[in-house]
Amino acid sequence: MEFRLALIGFGNVGQGLARILRDKGRIIRDRYGLDCKIVAISDPIKGSVYDEGGLDPATLLALVEKDGHINNYPGGVKGLDSLETIRETDTNVVVEVTPTNVETGEPGLTHIKTALEVGKHVVTSNKGPIALAYRELMALAEKKGVILRFEGTVLSGTPAISLATEALAGADVLEVKGIVNGTTNFILTKMEEGMSYEDALREAQRLGYAEADPTADVEGWDAAVKLVILANVVMGADITLRDVEREGITGVTREDVEDALRDGQRIKLIASARREGSRVIARVAPTRVPLTHPLANVMGATNALTLVTDHLGEVTIVGPGAGRVETGQAILSDLLAIHRLLR
Ligand SMILES: NC(=O)c1ccc[n+]([C@@H]2O[C@H](COP(=O)([O-])OP(=O)(O)OC[C@H]3O[C@@H](n4cnc5c(N)ncnc54)[C@H](OP(=O)(O)O)[C@@H]3O)[C@@H](O)[C@H]2O)c1
Repeated sequence: MEFRLALIGFGNVGQGLARILRDKGRIIRDRYGLDCKIVAISDPIKGSVYDEGGLDPATLLALVEKDGHINNYPGGVKGLDSLETIRETDTNVVVEVTPTNVETGEPGLTHIKTALEVGKHVVTSNKGPIALAYRELMALAEKKGVILRFEGTVLSGTPAISLATEALAGADVLEVKGIVNGTTNFILTKMEEGMSYEDALREAQRLGYAEADPTADVEGWDAAVKLVILANVVMGADITLRDVEREGITGVTREDVEDALRDGQRIKLIASARREGSRVIARVAPTRVPLTHPLANVMGATNALTLVTDHLGEVTIVGPGAGRVETGQAILSDLLAIHRLLR
């Protein structure tokens, strides 16, 4: 089978996927019988190029590394915008990897809706559209007979969503609780090593884990958005960001961290959702976790998620929650899942 990909956005994740296809495209074709061809890319600054014969990932990556854009790609049609690329190119899968906006979901929401409307499968790692419009988008995909997948929105390539919905098929997820933001876990780890909150934040910024404006991470917004996706997708809830009780880590002091340790606990920014009658209670807050629990031993920028299930009790998955190739892997695993479903 051939997937003819349109990449909307060519930043970290788009390039991470290109890198995987450059290095392993042939292996993927031999092993799974799926030929993933990048046919079109559209990005406002890095450039847009479409060649119905397929684009060479090695050339694309070399160009973007050297020039910061792909405008000098040899041949192809240049300059199509994202909607033209989605609607007018000979592609069958749209990979939507533009920046997350949790207030409007745009531009990703319009990209995804447009792609589904014109009958193309969609894979995305963009949290905004899924947190805001999961049900609507899934209904549209079903109506149009195409598939929408979004593994990368929660733990990057660490398979949180497919673990719950596919590997644990048949079991009910009664509760989710996890460390779904690497930046804050890194800061808390550094505070345990003796740094103040301010120094730990500066270190996170120096290493590129935290943005210049760290609000989305340290105030718990990023974790809350991922929790909305988890609760709605994995637990069948219907909540929005407004339903999440949220407290970040800015009020956590070194003394709090040390006090907890003396009591055999570690402070973690835990995102949790659990059923209470017909409601799902969702909360992001610094939480004391007993050192005996797997989540307490997840350090640095690593993420982890515990699913509390009816048939298996607790199942915990630990792994990276960000990164170019890591999130490229999320996209690849979704592409392969679509391929399995279509075969
Ligand atoms: N990186 C990770 O580790 C990671 C992990 C999990 C999920 N995600 C999510 O995955 C998505 C992509 O992340 P990323 O790290 O690749 O972001 P990124 O490096 O900022 O790349 C996004 C790219 O999309 C471009 N873009 C903006 N508006 C566009 C439009 N209308 N049409 C086409 N392209 C557009 C951006 O161009 P400009 O530079 O001009 O804005 C940028 O090149 C985000 O939603 C992010 O939250 C990322």
